[in-house]
Amino acid sequence: MSITMPAVESTPGVAFYAGAVAEVYDLLFPPDCEQVDEAFFARHIVAGEGPALEIASGTGRLLLRLLARGLPVEGLELSADMLRICRERASKREIPAVLHHASMVDFSLGRQFATVFVPFYSFQILTDRSEAECCLRSLYNHTAPGGKTMLTTWTHWEDMLPAGERGEKPWKLVRTGRDDDRGLFVTSSAASEVNRTEQLQTNWFRYDVYQHGRLVETTSRIETIRFYHKYELQMMMERAGFVDVRVTGDETDEPATDAHTSWVVTGYRR
Ligand SMILES: C[S@@+](CC[C@H](N)C(=O)[O-])C[C@H]1O[C@@H](n2cnc3c(N)ncnc32)[C@H](O)[C@@H]1O
Repeated sequence: MSITMPAVESTPGVAFYAGAVAEVYDLLFPPDCEQVDEAFFARHIVAGEGPALEIASGTGRLLLRLLARGLPVEGLELSADMLRICRERASKREIPAVLHHASMVDFSLGRQFATVFVPFYSFQILTDRSEAECCLRSLYNHTAPGGKTMLTTWTHWEDMLPAGERGEKPWKLVRTGRDDDRGLFVTSSAASEVNRTEQLQTNWFRYDVYQHGRLVETTSRIETIRFYHKYELQMMMERAGFVDVRVTGDETDEPATDAHTSWVVTGYRR
């Protein structure tokens, strides 16, 4: 059965991550195990030989793991709810975490970092071109001379097809999570629509929380993200002042190809 989509409307990135979604984030992305991007960023931070800054650090999925490895990383996050959960988890685990409550679009910490990084595709939340460019300038201003900024983007080609070409399955189960101690089970499902010309994807998300087998809460959210292409990102980074900009695939450090599902864009500051 195909689903008729509601009118396209966007929800700003932070509203998406407030309240109930912040509460289920750690169930869907369990933070207490080795993370898929952890070794990769740890290696780059060590190579940077200086302090690092994670942009849009959320509930600390990656940040707290890096800190637990003894790496000098600070976090910057705009959602008060995500930040609170991160602080609570850090204090429970006795991990001293420096967290900045600010927008990645335009921030000023008065310091520079050897490595600035935006993992988990958070840059794609910035659908407004001028905001994205403003963000890149802020990232550049916080990158120390000789240091680098790295940001990841998601290149799931299948999702760029119009819904009709993806078949009659607009809603799909995205992921599930559980907390057996609290008897919780959560599902996230989504339907999406793509505007290829504008490189925009609108995702309708639905989160269902079950406790001891009973549905106790349902939350719906809409997010719009922008896809960026390789040369476009390179040019945007160069316009912000970065040099030697390269695009690598997944966590490989190898040039990006169609075989990769994510890209890492790295630019250096002279
Ligand atoms: C996909 S989550 C990634 C969280 C974390 N980095 C991780 O890897 O789990 C995106 C994060 O971006 C944050 N965010 C959205 N807009 C932001 C903005 N303008 N400035 C800072 N953070 C923002 C959201 O609140 C959310 O925590």
